[in-house]
Amino acid sequence: MPLLRDADLAAAFDHAARSYDALVAANPGYHAHLRRSARRLGLPDGGRDMRVLDLGCGTGASTAALAAQLPGARIIAVDASAGMLQRAARKSWPDNVSFVHAPAERLAEAGVEGPFDAVFAAYLFRNAADPDAVLAAVHDLLTPHGRLAVHDYTLSGSAVHRAVWTAVCGAIVLPAATALGDGKLYRHLWRSVVEFDTADEFAARLRSAGFDRVRVLPLPGWQTGITHTVVARRSIGDVGGAR
Ligand SMILES: C[S@@+](CC[C@H](N)C(=O)[O-])C[C@H]1O[C@@H](n2cnc3c(N)ncnc32)[C@H](O)[C@@H]1O
Repeated sequence: MPLLRDADLAAAFDHAARSYDALVAANPGYHAHLRRSARRLGLPDGGRDMRVLDLGCGTGASTAALAAQLPGARIIAVDASAGMLQRAARKSWPDNVSFVHAPAERLAEAGVEGPFDAVFAAYLFRNAADPDAVLAAVHDLLTPHGRLAVHDYTLSGSAVHRAVWTAVCGAIVLPAATALGDGKLYRHLWRSVVEFDTADEFAARLRSAGFDRVRVLPLPGWQTGITHTVVARRSIGDVGGAR
């Protein structure tokens, strides 16, 4: 089975939206880790008067993490799946949060324009058909020295961590998701993680895209060596779009 992309992926998330919050609630550390990654953006003063983009916001778990850490920021949360966004919109949000239905590849068409002081992307890039194109768009949306935090299942490169990931997916995630009718999406999850960059490879991808101060930061629990925050800053030398 090929990986899911674009409209097929959005449709799979539309279907999975009804059980998404319950599945992630059963994943120990899911929300705490998102909050930790949001803090790792390192924005001062609760993000006062800043604009922050949550790319691939889903049902709003990452948006809630950002809203908790950055009460002073204007948070624009974007997702390609209407079903996931509907779940997000049903929740109660402070006035500084708004949602937009758009794929990361077509933000301007949906009226999402920079500059942003920070972009947060949780579980997004390995889903994109062309992650470098999305990264280039994110780079151009950021202010000079704007921050990026990418939170995802990005493996360490060790065979042990890859085996733990495969065991968790095979024994827990896939049986639950298959029973809910979402087997295709969660098989995509397993394979997209195994086939995408390791954390260090993703860091190198960011440097090639014009980011500096790139750091790979670990997360604890069963996710050790499996989930990382990769933080970076738009390099000042790239202002004007030199790539
Ligand atoms: C695993 S969910 C994560 C949601 C949320 N960030 C969280 O932390 O729970 C990934 C989300 O990314 C969205 N997504 C995947 N590819 C996308 C793209 N190219 N553009 C916009 N959203 C995308 C999906 O629709 C889905 O809602």
